[in-house]
Amino acid sequence: GAMLMSSPNYIQYHGLLLPPDAHSKESLEYAQNFSVDDTDVFAVTYPKSGTIWMQEILPLVLNGGDLTPINTIPNWDRVPWLEEKRLEQIVDQLKSPRALVTHFPFNLMPPSFHTSKAKVIYVMRNPKDILVSSYYFHQMATFLDDPGTFDEFIDKFLEGRVLFGKWTDHVKSWRRAKLGDRIMFITYEDMVQDLPASIRRISDFLCCNLSEEVIQNIAKCCSFKKMKTNPLSNFSLVSKEYMNNDKSPFLRKGTTGDWKNHFDSQQLTRFESVIHKELEGEDFSLPWSL
Ligand code: A3P
Repeated sequence: GAMLMSSPNYIQYHGLLLPPDAHSKESLEYAQNFSVDDTDVFAVTYPKSGTIWMQEILPLVLNGGDLTPINTIPNWDRVPWLEEKRLEQIVDQLKSPRALVTHFPFNLMPPSFHTSKAKVIYVMRNPKDILVSSYYFHQMATFLDDPGTFDEFIDKFLEGRVLFGKWTDHVKSWRRAKLGDRIMFITYEDMVQDLPASIRRISDFLCCNLSEEVIQNIAKCCSFKKMKTNPLSNFSLVSKEYMNNDKSPFLRKGTTGDWKNHFDSQQLTRFESVIHKELEGEDFSLPWSL
């Protein structure tokens, strides 16, 4: 298939590459003019950091553990993307407090976000695992560019020639944002290690006051296994022409450290030196060693 669909003509938006299937000039304008409520909650991620996982967790935390939505509404409509075409069509169905997701770096958030009290949960993931996850995602998502070889994809990733640009720029933008107690940082690794404790942190941050029983129940529903078998949560309802789950499932492995099965030592050195250099002088440290 190298001849086929090798160039899906990404649109450029403030230096970022975006696939036209999900975004249009109009949807990006809609996002900029979007009226953010004080009660809105944004899950913010660089792609492949655990977005879909937060889309599963957030409504359950916000509605006190009522499982109805995960059995009735596809997760991209439960917690829609700020920047995607779909938002305008379903925005009226969202119940307050609304949960949204975005891959936007901080500087592209709409003006109404900055003047609101809306909260942000920023999910970070080890960029080596993000790269591996993204590599497989580019193989199954036909609306994206062919990733090439793993080695070629490392260069693309480091140069930011991938969705939403460089990982380091994304992390820096949100780490530098002075949002005080409106923002909470959590890692994919924390969530894998102890999901109930992570849900407890999210619930406390959002002042939801959930009982231990409800927390345990939400954690069970948001396990990798559960989500992988729920068609409303695993993207299998999306047309094969758009996302081919036979090539690589969207819920692929759900683990930490898969990079060890993919990088050779030369690639690791190359990757680490670029990331370290780009984060030099920042006043935050990464929550894991690279
Ligand atoms: P892998 O490809 O490493 O398996 P995003 O939603 O931001 O695109 O991120 C997708 C990644 O999150 C995939 O990583 C996917 O398997 C993982 N993921 C999704 N739900 C998960 C869950 N409940 N538990 C663990 N990992 C999950």
